[in-house]
Amino acid sequence: MKPLLDIQHLSKQYRLGRQIIQAVQNASFSLMPGEILGLGGESGCGKSTIGKLIMRLIEPTAGNLLFEGQNLRHAVDWRKKIQMIFQHSSASLNPRFTVEDTLNEPFIIHGLAQGSKRAQRLMELLIQVGLSEDYLKRLPHELSGGQKQRIAIARALAVTPRLLICDEPFSALDVSVQAQIINLLARLQREQQLSYLVISHDLSILRYLSHRLAIMYLGELIEWGPSTSVYEAPLHPYTQALVAAVLSTDPMKERHRSRVVLKGETPSLLQKTPGCAFYGRCPFAKKICQTKKPILREVQSQHFAACHLYNE
Ligand SMILES: Nc1ncnc2c1ncn2[C@@H]1O[C@H](COP(=O)(O)OP(=O)(O)OP(=O)(O)O)[C@@H](O)[C@H]1O
Ligand SMILES: [Mg+2]
Repeated sequence: MKPLLDIQHLSKQYRLGRQIIQAVQNASFSLMPGEILGLGGESGCGKSTIGKLIMRLIEPTAGNLLFEGQNLRHAVDWRKKIQMIFQHSSASLNPRFTVEDTLNEPFIIHGLAQGSKRAQRLMELLIQVGLSEDYLKRLPHELSGGQKQRIAIARALAVTPRLLICDEPFSALDVSVQAQIINLLARLQREQQLSYLVISHDLSILRYLSHRLAIMYLGELIEWGPSTSVYEAPLHPYTQALVAAVLSTDPMKERHRSRVVLKGETPSLLQKTPGCAFYGRCPFAKKICQTKKPILREVQSQHFAACHLYNE
C-alpha cells in the first residue's frame, strides 16, 4: 500500500531578527490510508508547525510533502482532501454565524451539493457528530465547548476529506467531554476510513487513539513506530522519560518499570548543538552524542529511533 502522506526531510526555520529558530528539522515520516498517526512531544517541539506545513498555512524551508504520491505544491483538490481542526474551535467559528451558516460555508466555497441535497447533507453531518437538526439555528455562544468541537469536526467532514489534522483537539475540554470527542473521532475514522494526524502532548490519549506514534524533541523526530511498541517499550531515552512521567501517576504500573528521569530544562531551540538534541539531558549520553547527530533508523521491525545507543 502506498502512503497517503509522505513527509521527506521536512524543515522549517523562522527568522527572528538575526536569530534563526529551527522549528522543524529534517523530519521524515509517512501516514498510510486509514491510519491514525499520533504526534507527541513537549510544548514548543514543533508539532503544530508540522500540521501547518501539511495544511500549507506556511511553506517549508526544505524537504518534500507528498500527498497521494504527488508533491503537495502540484496536487489538485488537496484543499478538499486535507482538513484541520484546532484546540480552540471557538476561535475558528464565526461568532455571527449560525451552525447552519458554518456548515454551509464549505459547500459554497467548493461548489458542492445545493438546495435540498445540501440540506440533507447538513443533517447527515450533524447526526454523524452526535448532534441533531435542533442545532442548526444556534450561534457559537449557545454551544458548549464539546458541541463547538463537534461542529468544527462536522465542517471539516463536509468536504469528505481523506486526511484530518487534529491539533490538540481535546486539551481545552473537560475530561468527560474529552473522552466523548476521542470516541467520536475514533468512530468516524472507522466508519469513513479517514486518516488522522493527531497532535497532542498527552501520550495516553495518543496511545489510545493512534495506530502509530511519532515523538518529537526540539524540532526533530526522534522516535516513531507502532503505538504499543513506542508506548510499552520506548527506545529513545527521551520517550522513556515521557512515558515514565505519564505512568508515575499510576502507582500499579510504576512498580514494574525502570524509570528514566529527565534532568535539566528543555534547552532553547537557539542553543542547539551539532550532536543529539537530547545530549544535555540524557542519562545514557556518550561522547559521540555531543558531536554527531544520530540518524533515525529502524531498530526493530517498523520501530524507528534516532539514538546512538542503537548504532553498531
Ligand atoms: N511564526 C513564528 N515565528 C517564530 N517562531 C515560531 C513561529 N511559530 C512557531 N515558532 C516557534 O517554533 C517552535 C515550534 O512551535 P510549535 O507551535 O510548532 O510547537 P508545538 O509543539 O505545537 O507546541 P505546543 O505544544 O505548545 O502547541 C517554538 O519554539 C515556537 O516558538
Ligand atoms: Mg502546538
